[in-house]
Amino acid sequence: MAEFVPVGPFDIVIFGVTGDLSRQKLLPALFHRYCDNQIDDSSRIIGVARGAMEHSAFLDLVKQSCSSATDSFNEQKWEKFSALLDYFDIDATNEKADWEPVKGVLSQDSRPRIFYLAVAPRLYVPICQALGQAGLKNAGARVVLEKPIGSDLQSADEINKGVGAVFDEHHIFRMDHYLGKETVQNLLILRFANMLFEPLWSNRSIDHIQITVAETLGAEGRDAYYDSAGAVRDIVQNHLLQLLCLIAMEPPNSLDAENVRGEKIKVLRALKGFDDDNITSETVRAQYNSGHIDENRVPGYVDGLPEALKNSRTETYAAIKTEIANWRWAGVPFYLRTGKRMAKRRSEIVIQFKSTPHNLFGEGHNQPNRLVLRLQPDEGMQLYMQVKEPGPGHMSLKSIPLDLSYARSFSAVKYPDAYERLLMDVVRGNLSLFMGQEEVRAAWAWTDDLLSAWDRADQKLEYYAAGTDGPLQASLLLDRDGRAWWQSEETTA
Ligand code: BG6
Repeated sequence: MAEFVPVGPFDIVIFGVTGDLSRQKLLPALFHRYCDNQIDDSSRIIGVARGAMEHSAFLDLVKQSCSSATDSFNEQKWEKFSALLDYFDIDATNEKADWEPVKGVLSQDSRPRIFYLAVAPRLYVPICQALGQAGLKNAGARVVLEKPIGSDLQSADEINKGVGAVFDEHHIFRMDHYLGKETVQNLLILRFANMLFEPLWSNRSIDHIQITVAETLGAEGRDAYYDSAGAVRDIVQNHLLQLLCLIAMEPPNSLDAENVRGEKIKVLRALKGFDDDNITSETVRAQYNSGHIDENRVPGYVDGLPEALKNSRTETYAAIKTEIANWRWAGVPFYLRTGKRMAKRRSEIVIQFKSTPHNLFGEGHNQPNRLVLRLQPDEGMQLYMQVKEPGPGHMSLKSIPLDLSYARSFSAVKYPDAYERLLMDVVRGNLSLFMGQEEVRAAWAWTDDLLSAWDRADQKLEYYAAGTDGPLQASLLLDRDGRAWWQSEETTA
């Protein structure tokens, strides 16, 4: 197992510390890193939110988050970890807010001072302005912004400009937690630490690529945000496009943030856009109706919404066919899809190679090779090869995977949550797994183009039953091209 390298002492101020993201991800991530001795005892973890709370109540809240995120909660470690914690009731958007108590607990040296904005994007600029005015930045100050950065290119520009007026670009960490997933980082290793695939990695050998991010979860109490965002802004603009970039980008000449971002931007800028002729045939937007997941009945999307949102036409599913207009990828369709309340949770990339140019073995025996990269769950990869079915009869071929399961290969290893890795990278000042300003702009430019084409076409909202693989139209999207979504054994079982 790779070793944990301790980081130096740091202070982190989490805005929105009582919210979901903080309770479910950030606080447990910090606790886990502490338990592995990666965090120094002189570091401080300062929670800020609106609402008075006794110190003991804050400790209870943090303890509850940390203990519910771990199988074996370590009481002794908790006692020591809890000494790092403070809470302050501050409305950061109030010009008269009193920051003195926060200043009082921050270290007075130049150690990394991280401001984590686990709040709605509209608060990013006001909070950064307040931090600047209150003189809270030290020499090691940096800010972390959660995706989505805004809701379109214009609002993203406003955020980048406002935050950029207070923090330099190399002190701004734009978080897309997919980049912190072990298996997502492994895409870089697969492509650039192995010689095997590179000669095949282009339109010469690849027929098409599918990227799926399917969830069984719904909006999980984030109705107002999710309903205003929808699947495209919530997942496609960031997680899906990041996966696409890692699969399609040219080899960077180093892993420096600047080089990696530069290659990703080229891919995003080369993505084919949408017009009134192709929008209806190359995209699907859909919302889930009631259905069953693992035998539990799940209400339809609007049934779970408050009265004011009952007429919602927000998409909870999107399927999109796009292409990358460059020398390597011209002519290779990229099929992207994501959905809430699907049959199974899985994030998966399927690289389908071309069939052999001449079929020696007869009808039905020309299955193409496929490389299936499973990002979650059951992390691993499978390379499907044609083999002869044993037996004395006629020559019969079968597609069998060369199967690399991370669980089997690294059996003693528990994967750290993406936030654990990324938080430690913020402390180290390592930007390579964070999105750059131009990258976010390029992703929004393509996304805005898609969303405005949907508006112009008044794109029909399709429906699918919760617990299924999405609407029929998404299957037809590939069927029209003589292709089909990959069905892994687990999903067909
Ligand atoms: C978040 C989205 O960015 O990613 C959520 O806002 C989604 O809607 C989540 O559920 C999925 O992350 P993961 O790590 O569970 O695949």
